[in-house]
Amino acid sequence: MASLCNTQYFLNPRLPFRLLALVGTLTWHFLVTESAGPIQLRGEVGGSVTFSCPVAKQKLKFVYFQRGEIFVNGYYESKNTSQLAWKNTRVDHDKTTMHMYHLNVSHDGEYQCHFQYSDSGGAQKQVIHLSLTANYSKPDVTVHYSDENHRYSCLVTCASHCGYPSNKVMWNVSGIQMWKVLNSSEISDPETMMVNSSSTAYFNCSNGETSISCSVGDVSSDVVSVCSPRDPPPVSHSPVIIAIFATVGISIMLVLLLCWRCKKGQRGAAAVNFRLINQDVRKCEEEATVHNESNEATEAS
Ligand SMILES: *[C@@H]1O[C@H](CO)[C@@H](O)[C@H](O)[C@H]1NC(C)=O
Ligand SMILES: *[C@@H]1O[C@H](CO)[C@@H](O)[C@H](O)[C@H]1NC(C)=O
Ligand SMILES: *[C@@H]1O[C@H](CO)[C@@H](O)[C@H](O)[C@H]1NC(C)=O
Ligand SMILES: *[C@@H]1O[C@H](CO)[C@@H](O)[C@H](O)[C@H]1NC(C)=O
Repeated sequence: MASLCNTQYFLNPRLPFRLLALVGTLTWHFLVTESAGPIQLRGEVGGSVTFSCPVAKQKLKFVYFQRGEIFVNGYYESKNTSQLAWKNTRVDHDKTTMHMYHLNVSHDGEYQCHFQYSDSGGAQKQVIHLSLTANYSKPDVTVHYSDENHRYSCLVTCASHCGYPSNKVMWNVSGIQMWKVLNSSEISDPETMMVNSSSTAYFNCSNGETSISCSVGDVSSDVVSVCSPRDPPPVSHSPVIIAIFATVGISIMLVLLLCWRCKKGQRGAAAVNFRLINQDVRKCEEEATVHNESNEATEAS
């Protein structure tokens, strides 16, 4: 579609005054029976479209298409209209079907078909509305980071070219991300009337990596990742680690304390036993002495 942007689409040829006067005599502004609703036609810029006038199979005095007061193409019983016909149009042998080629934006809008039967009735009119579209180019996404590690923030621009009608850039951002649209623009080429649409958005990278895409009309960009993945939070494990260290530390201290008290207790018990034994021994010795003394006394007596 980019080629459409570069191609020169000539607008309606300006009719010389003499021809305009003739058109004035050809086109009708009075006593016209209007048929039901307008016919809606769709076309693509650069493509072609077929207009059909809803007439019965009867001999016609005239059947032609006009835009505003300007003759486009058609059949007139008594006049040769080929000089007046738009160069990008051709009418079929049936006289009621008109093809329009090389459509450009200036062809968008309202037309009328006028017709009258030879043998009966007045002039009749059918309104035909032509809506043109041009596919925007696939949007390009460009990212400019504020830092080389892609951690702080970035500006993302989405741009699409040469579409019609004017459409804004729509952003599609997944997840929770702090971002905002800074500006948007839809610039229409003064000659071709084709539109370039773009938008710039600011992203704060503190929530880490995120996927984004943008679209203009029906056309979407590729999905791109912006910002660096977030680091694993550095302090989230420390309470657990501190708790484990504290538990282990306290346990070791308790065990040491218990051992120490245990050994001290055994030593104390041993000392007590030793003292008791000594006392017993001494008691025995004393008794023995007393006994010996009494024995010696009895022997002496
Ligand atoms: C424009 O887009 C429509 C829908 O996607 C597609 O059918 C059509 O062929 C496209 N026209 C051109 C000229 O690429
Ligand atoms: C991003 O958002 C965070 C949290 O609101 C804020 O502290 C930080 O300053 C912002 N960063 C930038 C580059 O604006
Ligand atoms: C949009 O904003 C960005 C960043 O401030 C700037 O570079 C760009 O030129 C602006 N675009 C328009 C169309 O104003
Ligand atoms: C639109 O974009 C095309 C392609 O980038 C460029 O050639 C053209 O000049 C732009 N038109 C306007 C009106 O900015």
